[in-house]
Amino acid sequence: MRSKKKLCVAGNWKMNLNLSQAEDFAARFEQIYRAHPQVEVKIAPSFTNLYRLVQLFEDTEVDILAQNMHWAEKGAYTGEVSAGMLRSVGVYGVILGHSERRAYFCETDKELRRKVQTGIENDMEIIYCVGETLQQREAGRHFDTVRRQITEVFFDLDPEDWRQVKIAYEPVWAIGTGKTATPGQADEMHAYIRELIAGKYGPALAGEVMILYGGSVKPANARDIFARPNVDGALVGGASLNADTFNDLVEIAKGFFE
Ligand code: 13P
Repeated sequence: MRSKKKLCVAGNWKMNLNLSQAEDFAARFEQIYRAHPQVEVKIAPSFTNLYRLVQLFEDTEVDILAQNMHWAEKGAYTGEVSAGMLRSVGVYGVILGHSERRAYFCETDKELRRKVQTGIENDMEIIYCVGETLQQREAGRHFDTVRRQITEVFFDLDPEDWRQVKIAYEPVWAIGTGKTATPGQADEMHAYIRELIAGKYGPALAGEVMILYGGSVKPANARDIFARPNVDGALVGGASLNADTFNDLVEIAKGFFE
């Protein structure tokens, strides 16, 4: 049985919380949150809240991430934000390839490969999302879908680049639906992802890569999900918008090391 050295609890706020709501979250979270060396905590707010949250969380162990970025360094890309811009406001990590970006903004694996490359070159931490739709699962194509999302984007990375990468398995049918993958389904896919990485980069590296689960994670189901050997934490949407609920998830993660 694989023993976990760490868990990561990452909140993806998506297009939620304006500036004053984000400030209220930060004030409450700072009151209740106690850092733990084996539990990484990350929050990904919208672009407009990034700089303020970096300031508010400056003296804590909480990392602030972006939800997306462009692959180019700068230029005529109206509406886009570069890795250098993120770094200039103290943001050193980014979520890439979220299924909502793939579905609503037509992000392709080809584009994501460029974004990942840019993230690596700029020394950004990357949480890369993969996951199948309901139709793909029902057609028995879930493993193939995830394999393609990983191999086409990551398999020309150098082994040391993987230090900057976490994978988030988020089955599309479980996002915002209240329908969670069973801990067994999550672990099965996480084990598959690990095998895939091991096949190319060897078992030692594959064992080190943190693989998060995302899709209707909440305090009521987090313990069972975190307990699975191949699950290294969660990427949380809805339940990350409330400071108390999000902190409950952090506390559940800490419970595994105490
Ligand atoms: P929910 O936790 O709201 O299902 O969202 C999951 C997600 O998409 C996180 O990136």
